[in-house]
Amino acid sequence: MSTNGDSSKRLILGIDLGTSLTAVMSNRGKRALVGSVVGYPKDVIATKLLNSILVIGDEALSKRSYLNLYFPLEDGVLKEASVTHTIAAKELLERAIAEIDPQPGDQIYGIIGVPARASVSNKSQLLKLAGEMMDKVMVVSEPFMAAYGLERLTNAIIIDIGAGTVDFCAMKGTVPGSEDQITLLKAGNFIDELLAANISEAYPDVQITKQLAKKIKEQYGYVGEVRDDVIVTLRADGRPHNYDLGLEVRDACAAILPDIFESLEQLIQVFDPEYQEEALQNVILAGGGSHIIGLREAVAEFLQDYGEANVVRVTDPVYSGAAGALKLACELPPEYWHEVGDVFGD
Ligand SMILES: Nc1ncnc2c1ncn2[C@@H]1O[C@H](COP(=O)(O)OP(=O)(O)OP(=O)(O)O)[C@@H](O)[C@H]1O
Ligand SMILES: [Mg+2]
Repeated sequence: MSTNGDSSKRLILGIDLGTSLTAVMSNRGKRALVGSVVGYPKDVIATKLLNSILVIGDEALSKRSYLNLYFPLEDGVLKEASVTHTIAAKELLERAIAEIDPQPGDQIYGIIGVPARASVSNKSQLLKLAGEMMDKVMVVSEPFMAAYGLERLTNAIIIDIGAGTVDFCAMKGTVPGSEDQITLLKAGNFIDELLAANISEAYPDVQITKQLAKKIKEQYGYVGEVRDDVIVTLRADGRPHNYDLGLEVRDACAAILPDIFESLEQLIQVFDPEYQEEALQNVILAGGGSHIIGLREAVAEFLQDYGEANVVRVTDPVYSGAAGALKLACELPPEYWHEVGDVFGD
């Protein structure tokens, strides 16, 4: 690695800017998670109550009744339309970096993963923001980072199931091009909305929100045969009751499968035929949605028709993107960064 100047002063970061969670890891062994949400007090009373002009992450969610919330990475890319979203993205990135404890005089080098098909203008906007906080920064696609971290750079397929998007990437030993990537917008958030709707339809008296549906999904989410042990306490008419949500949870989680299967079929075909067999042996599920019980098996079963398939789940979906970005940032000399992604700084 190039060591211009004092390399102990170089703080290297891997950052995964996700729709729902931002994960950061540093070359000094620190790691942190920040919810990708920024809240601003609704009025002067709220400002006084909070004793702050901005709240980030979980705290913002829990105090949302006093706040206007902004999810700057919603839909997987920085929203261009609103200045507030751009400022919120900056606050979020600043907080994530602060969590990692940079020291005065540190030179900050970092790689940021963003959803695979973030548009170029969004990437340059993000680079500009990040360039204000870091000495050198590169933006790469999320699934590429995960693949790099797992050292599966050739003949592998990565499926990253996040909150806002499911990102597919065919790894062929080089930096993936746009033809090697597919992004679907039906991901975790879509399941949450559908689950809330399914519950309202089955039990019209129950009070249900998207946040509550998300919690239920994270605890019980599954696909496959309907189970009878998904019993959840919910409130109707202000009182708690137990409800059997086996069918509702299964149907909501399974709703993302048809599009995933269709994209997988397309992606297999971007490999030359002689490599398809090996690619099928290296199908990797990443992202928080890969926790859904039975998903790995469902994907493996779908692939049976295409040949012998091996589908695995990353061990730590929350940090796998940030870990891959950090590994890349540590292993690739900065003078080569521009060959891999969009770079800011010299
Ligand atoms: N145990 C679980 N079962 C099902 N879904 C889960 C579980 N844990 C987390 N999730 C879901 O995973 C999603 C978050 O995953 P992840 O952190 O990979 O997304 P992200 O990187 O923020 O989003 P994106 O990749 O779309 O930008 C959320 O929808 C969350 O509800
Ligand atoms: Mg993600």
